[in-house]
Amino acid sequence: MNKFNGMKKEELQDLLADLNKRYDEFVSQRLKLDMSRGKPGADQLDLSMKMLDYPSGSDCCKTADGTDCRNYGLVDGIPEAKALFAEMLEVSPKEIIIGGNSSLSMMYDSIARAVMFGVYGGSNPWGRQPAVKFLCPSPGYDRHFAICQLFNIEMITIDMKPDGPDMDMIENLVSKDEAIKGIWCTPKYSNPDGITYSDDVVMRFANMKTRADDFRIFWDNAYAVHHLTDKPDRLLNIMRACKDAGNPDRVYVFSSTSKITFPGAGIAVMAASENNTALIKKQLGIKTIGPDKINQLRHVAFLKDMKGIESQMKKHAEILKPKFDMVLDILESELGGKSIAWWNKPNGGYFISFNTLPGCAREVVAMASNAGVAMTPAGATYPYGRDPQDRNIRIAPTMPPVSELKKAMELLCVCVQIVSIKRILTL
Ligand SMILES: Cc1ncc(COP(=O)(O)O)c(C=O)c1O
Repeated sequence: MNKFNGMKKEELQDLLADLNKRYDEFVSQRLKLDMSRGKPGADQLDLSMKMLDYPSGSDCCKTADGTDCRNYGLVDGIPEAKALFAEMLEVSPKEIIIGGNSSLSMMYDSIARAVMFGVYGGSNPWGRQPAVKFLCPSPGYDRHFAICQLFNIEMITIDMKPDGPDMDMIENLVSKDEAIKGIWCTPKYSNPDGITYSDDVVMRFANMKTRADDFRIFWDNAYAVHHLTDKPDRLLNIMRACKDAGNPDRVYVFSSTSKITFPGAGIAVMAASENNTALIKKQLGIKTIGPDKINQLRHVAFLKDMKGIESQMKKHAEILKPKFDMVLDILESELGGKSIAWWNKPNGGYFISFNTLPGCAREVVAMASNAGVAMTPAGATYPYGRDPQDRNIRIAPTMPPVSELKKAMELLCVCVQIVSIKRILTL
């Protein structure tokens, strides 16, 4: 395939006319397709319907040690659920707190507590310090950034490299600025790049010198077990690395079963040092007399152990892999070799990160939207919704059925070519 920037003006104009015709055909179909959010499809949700059979009968509502899950209590979760997620996150059950159904809300609460009360070992609540800043590896997860914006935490964009965030930049910033209190990380199959941080990156996070003594890494391991292939990525255990480095309290790990069972009725989990969890449990005990333990029992009965989680995730992958493959095939056949777009091929997670020529992403998303395909807004993957190069588009292939996905991708590729040609012609 020809590179667009090597083609003659007349050739490009002819091609543009053809593409405009294709675009008009899409518009006339009055499509209503959604590739905007990383939700599981209904067939994935069906995989967990059997879980709703548990527990049955009042005797089944007890934990192994006899606690009645129908009643108040166990603010940090039932022992069985702690054991299950300790295995998944490779930590001790003592380092686990089980939450409600959303890890995002555990992250929000962790920020809120830090702002109002401070963190373990910190001298002052973040909110009483002159400034609070967060590092935001980008492209990243828009909802992380939205939390910072709500709490008036200044965000500093950090570039992503093929093996994780730019650690030179991070080490330099955190060593100098006491106002930098934290960083958002999605270390495995990152949202949206699908990158898994290398061992070197994890070790540098564990060992780096921070000027702030109340600095926390928000390690959002949302896609810990969400592999698409038989050769999954491997992520070094940051809790262990931080302990070994003499910084045991530096990291909060988050995860959930949102994309293992149900996003609307799953279990969220947080892991942190025993010093951190002791303080958090004390504060949680003021907020609630106990979470939904019946749902925890249900999850343990259904998933059982790590083998059970892996077998469930294989079923998800069987549904998802063909969708990812189809998106990648269409991208390759429509855009490959044209030097107008670049994309990643992730081994897991929920997204394909797609980059246009600089200055094109916003227009591409607007064109797709005019033809009835909703994409995540361009810019959303950067702090304050501002992609400095206006290039990144997050493709979320999981939710639409394959036939709709195909159509949406074909349209997207037409839009990318139209916008790119117009851009090349005006340069
Ligand atoms: C990186 C990341 N973290 C957290 C979430 C949401 O997690 P939860 O459903 O547990 O709140 C998502 C959902 O897309 C995500 O991509």
